[in-house]
Amino acid sequence: MKNFRIYKLLAFLIMLVISACDSDDEVIYVSPSGTDLVQASFTYSISTTDPNVILLNNTTQGSGDFTSEWDFGTGDLVPDEPGLEELRLDGVGSYTIKLYVTNTAGFTEASETVRVDEDGVCPNSVCGGGDPSTLKGSAKNFSVGTIVRDNRLTGMHDEVIRRDFNNITSEYQMKMNVMYPSQGTYDFGPSDAIVDYGVANGIDVHGHALIWHNATPSWVENFAGTDAEFEAMIRDYITTVLERYKGKVRSWDVVNEAIEDGSNALRNSVFRQRMGDDFIEKCYQMARDVDPDVLLFYNDYNMASDSGKRAAMFAIADRLKTLNLIDGIGAQLHISYNGPARGEIQAVVDGTVSRDLLMHFAEIDIRTNPEGNSSVTALSSERALLQKDKYKELAEIYTDIPTANKFAFTVWGLKDNESWLLDFWGVPDFPLLFDDNFNPKPAYEGVIEGFQ
Ligand code: XIL
Repeated sequence: MKNFRIYKLLAFLIMLVISACDSDDEVIYVSPSGTDLVQASFTYSISTTDPNVILLNNTTQGSGDFTSEWDFGTGDLVPDEPGLEELRLDGVGSYTIKLYVTNTAGFTEASETVRVDEDGVCPNSVCGGGDPSTLKGSAKNFSVGTIVRDNRLTGMHDEVIRRDFNNITSEYQMKMNVMYPSQGTYDFGPSDAIVDYGVANGIDVHGHALIWHNATPSWVENFAGTDAEFEAMIRDYITTVLERYKGKVRSWDVVNEAIEDGSNALRNSVFRQRMGDDFIEKCYQMARDVDPDVLLFYNDYNMASDSGKRAAMFAIADRLKTLNLIDGIGAQLHISYNGPARGEIQAVVDGTVSRDLLMHFAEIDIRTNPEGNSSVTALSSERALLQKDKYKELAEIYTDIPTANKFAFTVWGLKDNESWLLDFWGVPDFPLLFDDNFNPKPAYEGVIEGFQ
């Protein structure tokens, strides 16, 4: 592909020279025809008659003339024909399909990774199959995720992650206060380790979270410059991070938890104060501008238990969707064994599916001690089974989502004694799928049963 780039660059430079020398008596610089770049974009679907065939749809929109060429994963360029392109992918493996769109201003590209297993092209690029006694092996065409830290990627953590999960989210090391601790100085040590681990093990990485009021470094809270400089700084940050992980991080939570508790108004964060009420749209646009292929999510909590908050969240999603800036909704599911009710969780799914968005069951943990009883010392077998039922219910609801809207079912932690909830609530609890020694709990079986 390098050759293609060099060829395009040469053509572009020659055009610049021609336009600059096009006058007899004076050399005037003329920007080549004044046109803008046209952003390449495409979608694909799996043929209903042949599971090894995909239909590629060039969805590039742009004024003026442009040409489109495909690279079907071989490195050769094939001109785009009118209508859908049929592409047969026979061998098991992973294919990177690219579309290049060129006009006088230069060229842009879009790419998609398509995975193929013995049954054909895998919907959502997540292949089913595998050991059905594991979480990921029992999930069909969606990912099962967990959180990681850079110092929890070896030993039993590594074993369990690779056995049960095919998606990872950084628990806190891909947030702004860690990646961008002081102005002009990024620290990508931990985030690189996490992303490299995902790439090396064929595990998708979900980026979490670019903008979150709770993980904003103090230099950003107290930013010394003007509002315009603040916005430029945020653009630089989003651009730097997305460029670094382009092609390695499959999806990002761009803005996390923007809705205020109680009022359901926009939280009055430093981002809103400095960039305006449309700061969310601005941040998603910045992300899209860098990487049109990465999946962009809006993520928030209490969406099931609070119908007002749910409506506020869908209003944000609708605005982003109109601008074609959002791919999915992340519903944090920090819930309890006794609520919210199934119907309330289903309402989050229904609103997401009706908007044609991907549904991420994100940040799942299920409290067994919502009463906050500090004298609890162990998980009773009664509560363990009630917790299992709730995990199973979540897994059933997720499994019933239409394939096209599935994304990932992500638990917020591996084993009980590593749950953030212990600190957050300050009382004992047992909210995850594994006990302190990595033994699967009844909850683990509940998830597998729910995935059937
Ligand atoms: C939590 C992490 O688990 C903690 O380790 C960290 O100190 C604070 O953040 N909602 C979110 C997550 O979106 O990022 C939070 O994670 C939990 C609540």
